[in-house]
Amino acid sequence: MKKSSIHCLDDARNLAKKKLPEMIFDYVDGTALEGDGEKSNYNSFQKIKLLQNVLSGISKKSIKTKIFNHEFDIPFGIAPMGMCNLVNSKADISIAKLARKFNSPVSFSTMASTSLEKTFNMTGELGWFQLYVYDDLKSGLDLALRAQNAGYKTLILTVDVPDLGRRPRELKHNFKAQFKPTFKQIVDCSFHPIWSLDMLANGIPSPANFGKKLKIDRNKARGSADWKFLKSLRKLWKGNLIIKGILNPKDAKKAEKLGADAIYVSGHGSRQFDSSPIPIEQLPKVRAILQKNTVVIFDTGIRNGEDIIKAKCLGADFVMIGKPALFSLGAEGMLGLIQMVNNLAKEIEIGMSQMGVSDFNLLNKELIYNQ
Ligand SMILES: Cc1cc2nc3c(=O)[nH]c(=O)nc-3n(C[C@H](O)[C@H](O)[C@H](O)COP(=O)(O)O)c2cc1C
Repeated sequence: MKKSSIHCLDDARNLAKKKLPEMIFDYVDGTALEGDGEKSNYNSFQKIKLLQNVLSGISKKSIKTKIFNHEFDIPFGIAPMGMCNLVNSKADISIAKLARKFNSPVSFSTMASTSLEKTFNMTGELGWFQLYVYDDLKSGLDLALRAQNAGYKTLILTVDVPDLGRRPRELKHNFKAQFKPTFKQIVDCSFHPIWSLDMLANGIPSPANFGKKLKIDRNKARGSADWKFLKSLRKLWKGNLIIKGILNPKDAKKAEKLGADAIYVSGHGSRQFDSSPIPIEQLPKVRAILQKNTVVIFDTGIRNGEDIIKAKCLGADFVMIGKPALFSLGAEGMLGLIQMVNNLAKEIEIGMSQMGVSDFNLLNKELIYNQ
C-alpha cells in the first residue's frame, strides 16, 4: 500500500505548494490584509504551555467525545470550506468518506462544489451543512429548509462574513468562484501538470448549491442577516444549530439566548478580520459566559494534536480543522487526509500521556501551565 509522506502540517503545506497552481495555493493559504491576525493567533498558541504529570500509570487513552448526543471517535472534525474541489477534484467526496471512516463530523459549505444532497447521502448525520446568507434573507431560509429536507440534522450559520475579507493573495490572481482561467492562470496551471490533468479529466469545479442560472458573485454582501433573522432560522431549523464566527462573548450570550445549541468560536482561519481579537484568547471568555450545556466548538490555527489539547483545556468541547485538511488533500488526496487525521489523533494521545490524562474529556484549564 502507498505510504504517506506527511508527518506534520509543514509537510502537507510544502507538498501542496509544489503540486497546486500558485493561485489555488494562495486561495487556501491567503489571509485578510497583511496576515497579522494569523501571526498573533499562532504566537498566542505557542505561548500556551501544558502541565506534565509523570508516573501516572496510564497505558490506555480514550479520545472519544460526545456532543449533540453522539459519541465521536475523535474530538475533531472538518470545518466548512468552499470550493474544496479546487485542490483535488475528489476533495468533497474524500471529506465525506472521512466522516464514516473516523466517526467524526465533516462540514459542507454553501459554496461547495458538490450538492448538499449528494454529500448527505454519503455522510448521513455525520455531515453538517454550513449556511451563508446573502442579502436576500428568504433565499437563506430556503436553503436551510432544503438542507433540512435532505436530512441534515446539524446546521452551521456562519456570521463572520458580512462582507468578504480583502485577501491580497486572491486579488493578485483575480481569483473568482466561477473559475474561467486567464492567460496568466493558464501558464500557472501548465507548471502544475498533475493538478491540470485532474481538472481537465474531471471538469473545473463550480458552486453546486445554487440554481444553474444563478451567477455566483463571492463579493456579494452577506451583511443583511440580523438577530431577527437568527430567530426565524431557529424557528425553522429543527436540529442542532451552530453559530460560527463568534469572538465576542456578548454575541455568544445573545446567540445562546436565541436558542443556539452551539457557539463556534472562530476567526475564519484569519481570512476575514485582521484586527479581530485573537481567537484562542477569546475561547475561555466565551466558554465562561455560556451555560454548561451549550456546546463550544473552536477553530483557527490548529496545527497539531497539542493545539487540540490546548483548545480543549481552554473550554472547547470540539475542534474543527480547516487549511491543514486542504493542504493534505492537495498534497496526497484521500491518503493525505487520512494521514492528517491519524497524525492529529496520535499527537493528542501522546500529549495526554505526558500530561497524565487518560480520557480526553478530563482535560481542563487546571492543566494549563501558569508560570
Ligand atoms: C479555502 C477556505 C475556504 C473556506 N470557506 C469557508 C466557507 O465556505 N464557510 C465557512 O464558514 N468558513 C469557511 N472557511 C473557514 C473555515 O471554516 C475555518 O473557519 C478556518 O479555515 C479554520 O482555520 P484554519 O484554516 O486555521 O484551521 C474557509 C477556509 C478556507 C481555508
